[in-house]
Amino acid sequence: MKTVQDYIRTIVDFPHEGIMFRDVTTLFADPRGFRMAIDQMLHPYAGIDIDKVVGLEARGFILGGAIAHQLSVGFVPIRKKGKLPGTTISQEYTLEYGEAIVEIHDDAIQAGEKILVVDDLLATGGTAEAGIKLIERLGGEILSCAFIIDLPELGGRAKLEAMGMDVHALCA
Ligand code: PRP
Ligand code: ADE
Repeated sequence: MKTVQDYIRTIVDFPHEGIMFRDVTTLFADPRGFRMAIDQMLHPYAGIDIDKVVGLEARGFILGGAIAHQLSVGFVPIRKKGKLPGTTISQEYTLEYGEAIVEIHDDAIQAGEKILVVDDLLATGGTAEAGIKLIERLGGEILSCAFIIDLPELGGRAKLEAMGMDVHALCA
C-alpha cells in the first residue's frame, strides 16, 4: 500500500539552484493520498480539545481547512504581508530561500484559545516560529504544530522544540 511519502515528488533546483523542493500538489491531487494525510495528521489529537486551527500560507490553508472541518472548529489564516484586509499584527522571518513578513488579524484569536498550527513542511522553522509568535502575541495557547514533512537537517524541529512546542510530522 502507498504511504503519504509516496505521493510527494521532489523538484530539483526550485525555486532556486540547490533547493530540493518537496511538492505536495501530487499528494493533494490524489483522493486517497489527501485523505490519508489529513487522517494521519489528525491522529495525535484524538480526544484533545482544540479551539482553532491556524494555517500558514499557502499550503497550510489547504491542510488546515480540511483539518478544521474535520474537528468542527474555526480556521484562521496567517498570510504573507499585505493580503489580510482587517487590522493585523506582523512578524518578520527568514526561510530556506528568502525573507518575508507574515500577518494575522488582531481579532482572529482570543486569549486562552487552544490552537493547532498546520503547514505542509517544516524546514528552517522560520515560518512556523513567526506564526507561533503572532499567535502567542494574541494570547493563544499553542497545543501542537502539525506538518506533513519535516526536513530535520534544516533545524526547524529543534528550533520549535526549544520553544517548548509539541511537533508532529508524517515523514522526512
Ligand atoms: C514553504 C512551506 C512552509 C515554509 C517552510 O512555504 O510551505 O510554509 O516554506 O520553510 P521554513 O521552515 O524554512 O520556514 P513558502 O515560504 O515557500 O510559501 P508558500 O507556501 O506561500 O509558497
Ligand atoms: N519550504 C522551505 N523549504 C522547502 C522545500 N525544500 N520544499 C518545499 N517547501 C519548502
